[in-house]
Amino acid sequence: MRLEGKFALVTGAGSGIGRALAVEASKRGMTLALCGRRADALAATLALLDASKANIAIPADVTRSQDRAAIVARLKENWGRLDVLVNNAGVVNGGALEQEEDAAIERLVATNVTAPIALTRDLLPLLLVAPPSRVVNIGSMFGDIPFPLFSAYSATKFALRGFSDALRREFGDRGVGVTYAAPRATRTEAADALEQLIAAMTPSLDEPAAVAVQIWSAVEKDATSVYPPGAERFFVLLQRLFPSLVDSAVRKQMAKHIAG
Ligand SMILES: NC(=O)c1ccc[n+]([C@@H]2O[C@H](COP(=O)([O-])OP(=O)(O)OC[C@H]3O[C@@H](n4cnc5c(N)ncnc54)[C@H](OP(=O)(O)O)[C@@H]3O)[C@@H](O)[C@H]2O)c1
Repeated sequence: MRLEGKFALVTGAGSGIGRALAVEASKRGMTLALCGRRADALAATLALLDASKANIAIPADVTRSQDRAAIVARLKENWGRLDVLVNNAGVVNGGALEQEEDAAIERLVATNVTAPIALTRDLLPLLLVAPPSRVVNIGSMFGDIPFPLFSAYSATKFALRGFSDALRREFGDRGVGVTYAAPRATRTEAADALEQLIAAMTPSLDEPAAVAVQIWSAVEKDATSVYPPGAERFFVLLQRLFPSLVDSAVRKQMAKHIAG
C-alpha cells in the first residue's frame, strides 16, 4: 500500500510505540488521527507531526463503546474514510499469576482483545469506503512464544494474532488487508514499569522509532506479519514445531529471575 496521502488512526498514540508509529507515518506523508485517554499526551504527539496535514487528536478510551462511537463519528465527519487502522493501545502486565486480581485480568483482556476487535468492527464501514485499506494489529513476541510470569498478557496477544488471521480471511476479498506486528521488548513506559522482569528476558531493548520503521515498511509491502530481525524468527518456528524445547529454555530463563 502506498502510504503518502492516506489517512490513519493510531490508538495509544500518546506514548511509546504508538507515538513512534504516528511520527513515522507522518514522515511518510500520512494524515493522522491520534487516540488515547490522556489529552495532554496526544497533544504532545500531535506537536511532533507534519503541521501541514490536518492531523487530529481524539481523546477516548477504546474499551468504552460510547468512546468508540465518538471516534467513528469524528473520522466520518473529518475524512469520510479510513485507510489504515492501527490497533496499538494496550496494557502490558507481568507477575505471578497467583497475584493477579480479577480487575487487572479483565482490564487486560478488555484493552488488548475486546477493544481492538470491537473498534475494527465499528470502523469497517469507513475502511470499506476506498479499498485497499488495512488493519495493523500490534501484538507481541509473547503472542507466539508465551512466557511464564506473563501468562495472561501472552494469552491476549495469542488472541490478537488469531483475530488478525481470521479478519484477513474474512475481509481480504473486499480489500481490507491485515498486518500483525510482533515487537520484542521495546523501551517504553510499559516496559519501564516491568524493568526487572524484562531485564531477566533480554539484555537490550529496541527503540520505538526503529520498531515503527519496521512496521510501516511491512505495511508498505502489504505484509501479513512483521517480526523483529534476528533469532526470534527461529524461536517462533521452534515454538510451533517443538514447543517442549522452548518450554525448558524459557523456564530456565525465568527460574534464574525468580531465584535472583
Ligand atoms: N514495550 C514493549 O516491550 C512491547 C513489546 C511488544 C508489544 N508491545 C505492545 O505495544 C503496544 C504499545 O505499548 P507500549 O509499550 O508503547 O506502552 P505504552 O507507552 O504504555 O503505550 C500504551 C498506550 O496505550 C494507551 N492506552 C492504554 N489503554 C487505553 C485505552 N483503554 N484506551 C485508549 N488508549 C489506551 C495509553 O495511553 P493512555 O494511558 O493515555 O490511554 C498508552 O499511550 C501495546 O499493545 C503493547 O502490548 C509492547
